[in-house]
Amino acid sequence: GAPVEVDISGIKPGEKLTVEWRGKPVWIVRRTPEQLEALKKVDGQLADPNSDRKAYPTPDYAKNEYRSIKPEYFVAVGICSHLGCSPSDKFTPGAQPSLPDDWTGGFLCPCHGSTFDMAGRVFKNKPAPDNLEVPPYMYLSDSRLLIG
Ligand code: FES
Repeated sequence: GAPVEVDISGIKPGEKLTVEWRGKPVWIVRRTPEQLEALKKVDGQLADPNSDRKAYPTPDYAKNEYRSIKPEYFVAVGICSHLGCSPSDKFTPGAQPSLPDDWTGGFLCPCHGSTFDMAGRVFKNKPAPDNLEVPPYMYLSDSRLLIG
């Protein structure tokens, strides 16, 4: 499949844009400062906080705390690593015990209950074996992304 060029200038903080790449949904999430801050507080609850697992190798440019090139914009394939359902947005604390009080969101797979933080990192003891995949991408300018 061809790379997909995306204009990200219209995405407001806290919003997600979904585009199709190779028949898969790719999310571009513009994270708020609160959401970025919250990522630091859940490491101990994650199955693979540093993205060391190899099923979907995380590209070098996303091997960081935010799993992204620019902290503000999270780019991921919106497909659960378990059996391929598409997680929904921003689950509430009740979906995952012992989240911090200031929890600001994540993703919940409707099929078997895997939960992911706002960097697509899967929580422990969930059926999904890996974090959400980070696709190949690059910035063409501040407002244009190339996915693929
Ligand atoms: Fe997502 Fe099973 S497909 S938890």
